[in-house]
This record gives sequence, structure tokens and C-alpha cells, in this order.
Amino acid sequence: MEFSLINETIQHFEGDSVVVFSNSSVVFDDENIQKLIALNHFESKSGKVLLLSLVSGFKSKQVIVAGLGDAIVTAKDYVKALSSVSVVLAEIKAKNLMIQHVEIKGFDEPWVHKITAKVMHNASYEVQKVGGDNKSSSRIEHIAVQSSMDNTHALIQGQAIADGMSLTRHLGDLPSNICTPSYLADTAMSLAKAFKLKCEVLEEADMSKLGMGSLLSVSKGSIEPAKLISLSYQGNGNEKPIVLVGKGVTFDSGGISLKPGASMDEMKYDMCGAACVLGVMRAIAQIKPNINLVVVVSALENMPAHNASKPGDVVKSMSGQTIEILNTDAEGRLILCDALTYVKKFNPKVVIDVATLTGAVIIALGKHNSGLMSNDQDLADDIISASKVALDGVWQLPIEDEYDELLKSNFADMANIGGREAASITAGCFLSRFTRDYRWAHLDIAGTAWVNGDKKGATGRPVPLLMQYILDKIKK
Ligand code: BES
Ligand code: MN
Ligand code: ZN
Repeated sequence: MEFSLINETIQHFEGDSVVVFSNSSVVFDDENIQKLIALNHFESKSGKVLLLSLVSGFKSKQVIVAGLGDAIVTAKDYVKALSSVSVVLAEIKAKNLMIQHVEIKGFDEPWVHKITAKVMHNASYEVQKVGGDNKSSSRIEHIAVQSSMDNTHALIQGQAIADGMSLTRHLGDLPSNICTPSYLADTAMSLAKAFKLKCEVLEEADMSKLGMGSLLSVSKGSIEPAKLISLSYQGNGNEKPIVLVGKGVTFDSGGISLKPGASMDEMKYDMCGAACVLGVMRAIAQIKPNINLVVVVSALENMPAHNASKPGDVVKSMSGQTIEILNTDAEGRLILCDALTYVKKFNPKVVIDVATLTGAVIIALGKHNSGLMSNDQDLADDIISASKVALDGVWQLPIEDEYDELLKSNFADMANIGGREAASITAGCFLSRFTRDYRWAHLDIAGTAWVNGDKKGATGRPVPLLMQYILDKIKK
């Protein structure tokens, strides 16, 4: 899918379709359209669309009228309208189209271009069927975005973000018999090749030498070898890098603390943190900004086996701290803590880990906001601002000593669980014991990375949030 900006009236666009908007007070300025809107009793609610064909005065085959709701158009209404438009475009198999420019409260024109490219591109994502030919008949080839400006930068960014999200979603949707730790390592190596990045993959023997007893205790019961993957993009000399760490549990059975059977299939998405940071790297490598970025993924499988870790086992992490594994299903923190110690070697400016860490975050925040925890309020505030611009929500939870105390163990420096109360926060507190040497934030994406029900699949979040956070850093 390609995008370009054009400075032309909608009526003169010679392509398959044009998209025009109307809200409760302003209807698209064209007599024929206004008549047809009245004739069809079209209500300009956000998410409603009206498909018109061969409208006189228009050179395109179809005119799609999309409702935007109230007179003051919000970003959410605009995104909702574009999503409904995408459904119609797929049905009519439009190959090229033009989208009318709309003013959105609180955002400038480049932002509108960026979100338009991102939403339209992301809406065209299709699940790749295992063993299928995956040829799509309904793919849009070109979208012209109406603009009075001559600045394609925003479109390029929106497109890159959507390309990153598409990689993230694809990896999240793949079954765990295909998307193994080795598959994630291969994906990172192909990214490195395609975009000239530096890639390093540590094997279990290397991790053992580094003393990663916590990480290795999780993969022990699986036949799939664990991989610790690092990808580096160097766009600004020797500046300290932003480091992203992703949880890459390609399947989380719970281990000996086996999960219940219902929806266990969904635990293939326990690598969405890894998929997200790889998606961000892809998008950054495509945009090529002046910044240094390192992404690190701990990839492995959590399985029950005769040689798997057992509740009560004590392991030693790379940091030297010992951990009593009271529940083998709290494995995410066990693999992240060693990755978080490992990343010190990159001399990070900040470290952000991204993980489908706790079911409790879904209870607390639902599917709308990722849980944010941090040891640095300025960093947390930057992430919160970025999330508002990217329309990729987060909500901050506290990291405080009172919660941290719940991790007390009689047999080791800490236990890997803190009980039922505040389970997302105690998970964050656990991680914070390994991140004392740098500015750090944690994103718990168990709720936001995946949708259930008939649209079951990976969402590509929080790629937009992290992209906004990184690109904001360049502006400053
Ligand atoms: N991967 C899960 C968290 C999860 C749950 C992600 C549901 C997506 C949807 C994590 O490894 C896990 O099992 N966490 C446990 C922790 C508990 C044992 C303290 C949980 O949340 O139940
Ligand atoms: Mn688990
Ligand atoms: Zn897990």
C-alpha cells in the first residue's frame, strides 16, 4: 500500500473511490452529495458510512461518505470513521482512492496524515494462513491523502509504524509450533540483513556462562532452545541508546504450575512483547532517524516436563540475587530479570520492557490501556504524553515499598510471586529489583496486545506508543 499527498478537489480525483466526511453540523460541500445524504436518511454518526456510486460531478466510481459525529471532531471519532471506511473499501475491492482532509481537535495536519496512513495501512492487515497461498484480492494499492502542505514525512512515518505493527501482529498470530524461539531469532536476523542492523543471538550455553540461572530455569523443561536476541540500530554515533526489552515466551503452558485448559491456545501470544519491540525496530530502521536503539528479546517456551522447574526451586539470577520459584507460571519476570541485567552492557539512556506479564492487568485496566510502571516519573510522564498522541493508551500503576514487601521469601532473596493482591504491581516490583542502575519503565500489555472473540488476534500495540516516544526524543 502506497500513500501520497495531493492538493486537488475530491470531485476531480480519477480513481476507484473517494472518501468524504460529514458531521452533525458540516456536510461535505457538494450539492449532489448533500441531496443523496438526505435521500438516504444518512446520520453522520461516527462509524456510519454511506456508499454511493456514479455520483454526477465526481470522476471516481464511488463516493464513500463517512460520519464523524459531533461538530468538533475528536481523534477517536476520526479513527473510528476510517476503520468503517476500510471495511467498505475491502468489500468493493477498491485499488486506489483519495481521502478528504479533516480538521481534528488538538492535532495538526501532519498528525492527521500520520494517523491516516497508520490506520488505513493497519486495517489492511490480513492473517497469513499456514500453508495457504495468502494472495489477497482486496488489497488497496494507493491512497492519496488530501493536503495543502508539501510534507510527506508524516505519511512515511505512519506507513512505517503500520509496517512495524504488521510484523508484530503477524508474529503474534502465528501458532507456537511455527513461531518458536528459533523462529524469532531468524526473524531478527532477516531484519538485520534487510535493514543493515547489528544482530546477536546468544545460545543457552552463552547464557549459562553469563549466569542467567533465572531465565534458563524457565526454558529447561522445553525441547526448544532458548535464544537471547539483540538487534541494534545506530543512527546517532555513540550516543547512549534507548533499549527496549521484550518478553518472548512463544508458548506459556504455565509449566508445572500448569494453566487451566480454557483459552490455553491464546498463550501463543505470550511473545507479543518480543513481537512489539521487533516491530518498533523494523519501523525505526525504515524511518532511519538520528537515534540509537537496541532491542533485546528473551525468547523461550514455558513447558511442563520431568526436567522442568518445580514450585519451591531456588535459582540464581545474573544479578546475583536468588529467587524462590513459588509458581512456575510467573515465568515472565524470571526471564525478564536476566535480560534487564544483561542490557546494562549497552549503557542505556533508558530501558523500557514490554511484556504480557500478568492476567491481573486485564482485570485492572481491561483491554484499553497498557499498565505502566516506572522508577522515574519524568520517563513515565514522557510515555504518558506519547500515548495520548499515538492514541495507544497507558495507565500508570505505583511501584512502592509496601507492595515490594509482598515478595518476601524464607528461602531466597525474593519469591517470584506476591499473592493475589495487586499482582501486576508486585510483578513490576519484582522487575524493579533488577533495574536500579538506570531509568526504567515497564509496560504490561497482557490486555492490549490481543483481542478475544470473533476478531481474535494480535493488535500490534504498543508499537504506536513506543514509536511516538522515540520520535518525540529526537524533537527535544
Ligand atoms: N503470560 C501470563 C500472563 C497473561 C495472562 C498474559 C493472560 C495474557 C493473558 C503470565 O506468564 C502468567 O501466567 N502470569 C500469572 C502470574 C501469577 C502466577 C502470579 C497470572 O497472571 O496469572
Ligand atoms: Mn505464565
Ligand atoms: Zn507468561
